Amino acid sequence: MRVLFVGDIVGRPGRMMLESSLPALREEYGYDLMIVNGENAAHGKGITRKIYDFLVDLGADCITLGNHAFSKDNILTFIDSAERLIRPANMEPVGIGRSARIIQWQGYSIGVFNIYGSVFMDQVSESPFTAFERLMKENPCDIRIVDFHGEASGEKYLFMEYFKDKCQLIAGTHTHVQTADEAIHEGCAFICDIGMTGPYHSIIGRDIDELIASNVRLEPTRYTVAEGEGMLSAIICDIDLSKKEATAIRRIQIRPDLNG
Ligand code: FE2
Repeated sequence: MRVLFVGDIVGRPGRMMLESSLPALREEYGYDLMIVNGENAAHGKGITRKIYDFLVDLGADCITLGNHAFSKDNILTFIDSAERLIRPANMEPVGIGRSARIIQWQGYSIGVFNIYGSVFMDQVSESPFTAFERLMKENPCDIRIVDFHGEASGEKYLFMEYFKDKCQLIAGTHTHVQTADEAIHEGCAFICDIGMTGPYHSIIGRDIDELIASNVRLEPTRYTVAEGEGMLSAIICDIDLSKKEATAIRRIQIRPDLNG
C-alpha cells in the first residue's frame, strides 16, 4: 500500500497548490491512501465544513488536525459527523470529535491516529505516550499511521523510538519546515516534519510584513496568510501489509525556486 501524506495546508494558497499538484502526484506515484493535515487550511487557522468537503472531494481519506483544530467555531457544527476528520487525542478541549480513523483496505484495517506533542505546545491534556496507548486499545487495527503534531524534534524521535514496533509510519507535522531525516527505523517509516503546503514567500505561511510589524515594531496586527506562489510538502510511504513493515519513505517538495 502506498500512502501520500501531505503536510499542513495553509490557507487558500495551500488549498490551490494541493488541488493543482494532485493530478501529477497521482500520475507519478499512484498512491492508494491520501492523508492531509488540514489544521491551517481555513485562512491559516482551523478548518470549516466547506474546506473539509473540498479536501474530501480531492480524495483525502483522512484529514488530521493540530493546535488550531478549534479555531473556527464552524467545526463544532460538523466534527461529529465528519468521519474522515481526526483531531489530536491529548489536546484540550477533550471529548469532541475522534482521534482515530480506521480504513479498510484489501482485507486489512489501516488506523490513522492524531497525537499532540507536549513540549512547547499549549492546551496539552495528557502525555502523548499514555494517550496513544489508550487510542491503540480502543481502536484495534492491523497497520498504524500516526500524525504527531508537535514542535520539538527530540520529542518526535522519542515517540517514534518508543512506538516503532507498533507503527508502520510516524510523521511529524506543525513546524511547517520539512526535515531531511526521512528513514525507516526497524520497519517504521519516520520523518520529523513533513513541512508545509502553502505560500512559499512567507514565514511558515504567514505574511512577512505583518510579522515584522508585530514582532519588531510591536504593532497590533491581524493574522494574514501570505499571498503569491505556493509550495507543496509531502511524503510517499510504502507499507508491506502482510509483513506489517514500511519498505520506503521519500520526501516530496514542489517549490517555485526548484521549478527552474
Ligand atoms: Fe500546528
